[in-house]
Amino acid sequence: MTEIDYEEKFIDVHSEIDQDKYLLCHFHIEADNVRHAANVAAGESSVGTWTPIQTMKDRIERLAAKVVSIKGNDITIAYPIDMFVDNSIPQLLSDVAGNIFGMKEVHNLRLNGIDFPDDYVKTFKGPAFGMKGVRKLLGTDKSGRPHVGTIVKPKIGLNPKETAEVAYESYYGGCDLVKDDENLTNQRFCPFEDRIVNVLEALDRASEETGEKKAYAANVTGPRMLEQAQFVKDHGGNCVMLDIIAAGYYALQELRDADLGMFIHAHRAMHAAMTRSPVHGVSMGVLALLARLGGADQLHIGTVIGKMEGGKKEVLNNKEQLERPMGPHETTFAVCSGGLHPGHVPDLVSIMGTDIVIQAGGGIHGHPDGTIEGARALRQSVDATMKNIPINEYAKEHEQLAKALELWNK
Ligand code: 3PG
Ligand code: 3PG
Ligand code: MG
Repeated sequence: MTEIDYEEKFIDVHSEIDQDKYLLCHFHIEADNVRHAANVAAGESSVGTWTPIQTMKDRIERLAAKVVSIKGNDITIAYPIDMFVDNSIPQLLSDVAGNIFGMKEVHNLRLNGIDFPDDYVKTFKGPAFGMKGVRKLLGTDKSGRPHVGTIVKPKIGLNPKETAEVAYESYYGGCDLVKDDENLTNQRFCPFEDRIVNVLEALDRASEETGEKKAYAANVTGPRMLEQAQFVKDHGGNCVMLDIIAAGYYALQELRDADLGMFIHAHRAMHAAMTRSPVHGVSMGVLALLARLGGADQLHIGTVIGKMEGGKKEVLNNKEQLERPMGPHETTFAVCSGGLHPGHVPDLVSIMGTDIVIQAGGGIHGHPDGTIEGARALRQSVDATMKNIPINEYAKEHEQLAKALELWNK
């Protein structure tokens, strides 16, 4: 049915593209006729539809996207900057990642990367803290060690007091960050306000006892997001968490716009519905870049070696998107989470470097001696790695690490 051709109107592989005036989207495309499908995609994602229309005007033609490169199944489409609304990720997505994924001409289509013109990129707010700001807040800017975090487990079911107790033990054992799990928000068994009051009290107590600064990522995903974020702020919190894909990028931008002086921890639950296929969807790298523009100070990007799918090349590219020069925007702090335990730390650091947050849920609360000892073991593994001491060696004098390795490093 879709028939845009009108003499390959949206293909222009010969002219020079002014990168200050166009946003470049890099796609992988599979189709019976790649050139035709690329033309259709550029049309549909800008000014075109399936047939020439009588309402088209000459001056509108300047808003047409054009396919500027076709190399096998890799194409680049250039979108004129005037198509876009300042500081609006939803509007951007409805253009470059809108109807085109479902078009009949296209068997598979994957948005693998975006290059932004500076004038557009600077309209976004970006991270308020970024990695540097979060490190400063928690006092690790000098040591540069990875942050150590945990997710309260069981992921749902604990009441506010029980949640706070697990948080206290995690902080006391050495965690910098404790977070809610992605599916814990405001259920009846653990009402949000009650949980926040209890966990923040646990944070203060542990912070005083250990002399270390701590953060709690309170999950504000849901219908009362801003009200709940304000509640966290009013009770002395320094961080909020958002499931950015489930909630949508608009929610992230709203939270960032509220400028509450707390850093935003972004969880990516549901991303794999878009990112997992290597030939169709949107790459995690693109989602990461948008999270950074939208204001995420921390973002889950995968682990390479944990429980979730995602190879080294992909995860390193996700990190690159958080760190590459991007107008005035700070670097977003990469979070590695999902199936990690103390035995993973040396490999993780050798792949990802030290500018990461290492989070473990099961890998802390599953320690044979409980949460405090589990958190100690993870922190010891980070300490050993920072000192370049093999963890098995370090474990000889660190019982908690020894027990963790005995359990998980078989
Ligand atoms: C989890 O909730 O178990 C993990 O955070 C999932 O890991 P991911 O962020 O790498 O998808
Ligand atoms: C997360 O949300 O990041 C996780 O729930 C990770 O949990 P795990 O360490 O038990 O896999
Ligand atoms: Mg989780």
